[in-house]
Amino acid sequence: MPWYDDNEMWAIFYDCMFDQESFDVANQQCQQILELVDHPVKTVLDLACGPGRHVLGFARKHLAVTGVDLSGFLLNQAANHIEQQKLSANLVHSDLLNYQPQQKFDLITNLFTSFGYYPTPTENQRVLENAYQWLNQGGSLVIDTFGKEQAAHAIEPVHCTEYDNGDIRFERPLLIENMSVYSNEWILVRDNQAHRWAYEHFVYSANELSQMLQQAGFTDVRIFGSLSQDDYDLGAERLVALARK
Ligand SMILES: C[S@@+](CC[C@H](N)C(=O)[O-])C[C@H]1O[C@@H](n2cnc3c(N)ncnc32)[C@H](O)[C@@H]1O
Repeated sequence: MPWYDDNEMWAIFYDCMFDQESFDVANQQCQQILELVDHPVKTVLDLACGPGRHVLGFARKHLAVTGVDLSGFLLNQAANHIEQQKLSANLVHSDLLNYQPQQKFDLITNLFTSFGYYPTPTENQRVLENAYQWLNQGGSLVIDTFGKEQAAHAIEPVHCTEYDNGDIRFERPLLIENMSVYSNEWILVRDNQAHRWAYEHFVYSANELSQMLQQAGFTDVRIFGSLSQDDYDLGAERLVALARK
């Protein structure tokens, strides 16, 4: 089983990754994304939507939003939020590469470092090629991830985070395979028990991601350092790619 299909681990680490503040941030990001793409949007596809943080944000704006994810656990969280908040959205339980939409979209998103998880470059490239096919002409793909430049600049051998509920998380990130793969180990100490989760995914420089997008068919590709359109420089917090069809 690939690391990202481990529902037990998502359940254990859920509170660290997806607290209420992260939902509030995602809600603001939906507005930032609409300002970034700067064209009318009625239909949105969120690829690897997880617990639906952005699905909820777009649904609140009365957009017709579909979220696709592999994790049944995370999609259940999304479905609960949608129901509790009396919103409307379409959730699809599928691997991204098996998903076959019945429509095209004005906006496709892939957010919070959800790109590069497939073990081969060809599969990751196919995610972009599919997104290109599934966009309406004039529509946009927005990817929000962290870049190889940032990883190389900011990586710490061990990073420790303490949470209000008493949990402590240790991270031990590495850049491996000629700095093409980000490999991380999380150790969560909760109630005197340690839970370990190791994961890795491809990490791309801004130029590498731009080239992949162009290879997928996108002609207009722009890079930013955040969803609020900061420059991609050494101070950038994220690698954001805006690609128009
Ligand atoms: C870091 S989470 C981000 C979730 C969401 N985008 C957010 O901002 O909260 C990465 C997500 O990618 C999903 N994922 C990973 N590989 C996938 C695949 N092959 N098909 C569909 N979803 C996948 C995981 O299940 C997880 O929900």
